[in-house]
Amino acid sequence: MNREHFYALMGGEGTLDYELYLNTKTLLSCQGKFETMCNRDELQFQIVHQIEELWMKLIAYTLLDIDEYLQQENTNRVITLFRRVHLAQRLMNEQLALLETMSPKEYQEIRKRLGNGSGQESPGFRVLLKMYQPLWHSFQTHYLDKHGLTIEKIYDSEYSHGDAYVVAEALAEFDELFQKFRYAHMQLIYRSIGFAAKSLKGRPVEILEEGMRQKFFPELWEIRTQMTDKWGAEYGIKRDSLGGHH
Ligand code: HEM
Repeated sequence: MNREHFYALMGGEGTLDYELYLNTKTLLSCQGKFETMCNRDELQFQIVHQIEELWMKLIAYTLLDIDEYLQQENTNRVITLFRRVHLAQRLMNEQLALLETMSPKEYQEIRKRLGNGSGQESPGFRVLLKMYQPLWHSFQTHYLDKHGLTIEKIYDSEYSHGDAYVVAEALAEFDELFQKFRYAHMQLIYRSIGFAAKSLKGRPVEILEEGMRQKFFPELWEIRTQMTDKWGAEYGIKRDSLGGHH
């Protein structure tokens, strides 16, 4: 196949309504020109990052809606929109694996071209890091405080699987999937640049491990520990075996 011919076709004419509405001409020229790529993996490297940015844009935009619906206590809307957020997060996590099809050798060539660029500068990631606290605030004000509820009550002493509980679990899912992104990203680093290699900004393991420990909503995780500890204290640490033997 003649490369030049197909390269030209990939960009499209940009004149049809579909192309105009979706701005495909611009979209498809957001990647480096084929002739400037350092190798055949660089296009994928750029596209995966760009797609991840688009998912994060959609997630951030949806979280703004979720925040408004939290303030209105419109639980059905909150849950439907969280489903969208969670799906986009799952796609983000899965799509990182595309970059595991890139050889470490080829990645070394791409790396030289990144300048001082780093994922830490990702606009999508940065905005998400600014959104979880306001979200929690809206949840706490409208689902808990206003109704005299607490996390302890909705999970344990007054557990009824009500709206506040269902929304809390959607928040926990968001938190967990974010953690999973960080974990999958770490695995990708092991696969491409290796464990504890020096990165553009220092030692990635140290930079990233702190993030991997971060919980957006620590109260939602602490309640589980408290319930388990309470249960252990009530029934004693050592229990009878299921066969009835001591
Ligand atoms: C082979 C592929 C990749 C490698 C080797 C890699 C490597 C790294 C390294 C070493 C860091 C630590 C900071 C630094 O030293 O620059 C980092 C941070 C980061 N990367 Fe990647 N990355 C890759 C792909 C991606 C992709 C596809 C995304 C998608 C958005 C991404 C998003 C991020 C983010 C958001 C951070 C900051 C994380 C935080 O501060 O907790 N990376 N990356």
